[in-house]
Amino acid sequence: MLKRKLRFCHNLRFRLFLGLTLILVIISVLKVNQKDHFLNRRHLELTKEDPISNVNCTKIIEGDLEEIQKVQLEILSVSFKKRPRLIYAPQNFYCIHVDKKSPESFFAAVKGIVSCFDNVFISSQLESVVYASWSRVQADINCMKDLYRRSSNWKYLINLCGMDFPIKTNHEIVEKLKALKGENSLETEKMPVYKEVRWKKHHEIIDGKIKNTGIDKQLPPLSTPVFSGSAYFVVSRSFVEYVLENSKILKFIEWAKDTYSPDEYLWATIQRIPEVPGAFSSSDKYDVSDMNALARFVKWQYFEGDVSKGAPYPPCSGVHIRSVCVFGVGDLSWMLRNHHLFANKFDTDVDPFAVKCLEEPTIWNIYYLEGIINGLPLAKLFCFKA
Ligand SMILES: *[C@@H]1O[C@H](CO)[C@@H](O)[C@H](O)[C@H]1NC(C)=O
Repeated sequence: MLKRKLRFCHNLRFRLFLGLTLILVIISVLKVNQKDHFLNRRHLELTKEDPISNVNCTKIIEGDLEEIQKVQLEILSVSFKKRPRLIYAPQNFYCIHVDKKSPESFFAAVKGIVSCFDNVFISSQLESVVYASWSRVQADINCMKDLYRRSSNWKYLINLCGMDFPIKTNHEIVEKLKALKGENSLETEKMPVYKEVRWKKHHEIIDGKIKNTGIDKQLPPLSTPVFSGSAYFVVSRSFVEYVLENSKILKFIEWAKDTYSPDEYLWATIQRIPEVPGAFSSSDKYDVSDMNALARFVKWQYFEGDVSKGAPYPPCSGVHIRSVCVFGVGDLSWMLRNHHLFANKFDTDVDPFAVKCLEEPTIWNIYYLEGIINGLPLAKLFCFKA
C-alpha cells in the first residue's frame, strides 16, 4: 500500500518538475521516519536556496532589534518565491476543504498531495465559498462530519485557514488540549449592538456578494442570547457530536443560513448554551476574549500599541490588510511568549523570514510539509489525538 503510494509520488515528481520541490519534501517524510533526519535534510535545502542562512533565528525569536532590522533590510532587497505550507503530524487527522470555484489544476495538486497520506483527505462535500456568507461555516461543518465519522480516536478539533501558522509545537498543543479537560477554547463575548444587523436582517447572495435585503428575520430559536466571536475554535469531540446531532443546534444552524458572517457568532453562541458539552455560562462573567481563548492570535490594528501603557499587544512589524496585521519578524518574539496555538496572518510574500524563523529546526520540531495549498480559497480542519 505504502509502496504504491510512494511510486505515485515519484511519478508526480517526474511530471511536475521545477518549483515543486515540495513533493520531494513529502517523499522524504514517507521514506525517512526519523524526525531529526528529515529536519536536517529540510534544513540543508533551506540553507542552499535561501538567504535565511545569514539570519540568526534564535536572535529573532529573542527579539534582538539589530537582527530584526537586518532581516527587514534584506526583505527589501531580495525577492522570494512563494513557499506555502501545511502543518502535519502523523497521529492527527486532516480534512482539507477546497473551494468549489478552484481551478481543476489546483484540485489535482491537492489530490496528489493528499494521496500520499492515510490521515489527510479532501472534504467529501465541497462548497463554493462566498465571503462572509453561510458557505464558510458549511465548509467547516462538512469537514466536521467527515472527521467525526472517520475516527473515534481524536479528542479535539481545530479549524485553520491558509494564512494560519502554529506558534506551539505539536507536543505543546497536545499538552494544552489535555489541560482543557473537555472544555472548549474560543472567543465568545457580548454582542456589540452594531453587529446585530448581521443576524436581525435576512441576507442574500446577489452577484456573488452577500447583501442585506432589509427584511426582518425572526429571532433565533434559542433562549441563550447571541454572542460575538471568531470563525476559529478549539472544540472537543463531544462538542462536535452535539453540534452535528442535537435538534436545537440543528434548528439554530438552519436559522443562521441567511445571515451575514455567521462564523463570527455561531460558535460563540453555541459555546454559551448550557447543555452543550464544555460550554460556559451565558453570564457575562464567562465572556472570553480572543486574547484569552487559545484558538488564534490576531493583531487588530486599532488595538495595537504600547503594552506598558495597557495595549493588548505591540504594534505590527509587517503590514496591515483590512486592519489585520500580516506578521513580520519583529512580531515573533512577543507572540511566542503568548499562550495561543496558532497565529494569523502569515504571508511569505510579506515577510518570508517570519515563517522561516518559525520553522528553524533547532527551535521548532513540528513536521512541516509544503503544499501548493496556501493562497487559494481553502480551509483546513484537523484533529488532535491527545
Ligand atoms: C545566534 O544567536 C545566539 C544567541 O545570541 C548565539 O548563541 C548563537 O551562537 C548564534 N548563532 C550563530 C550561528 O551565529
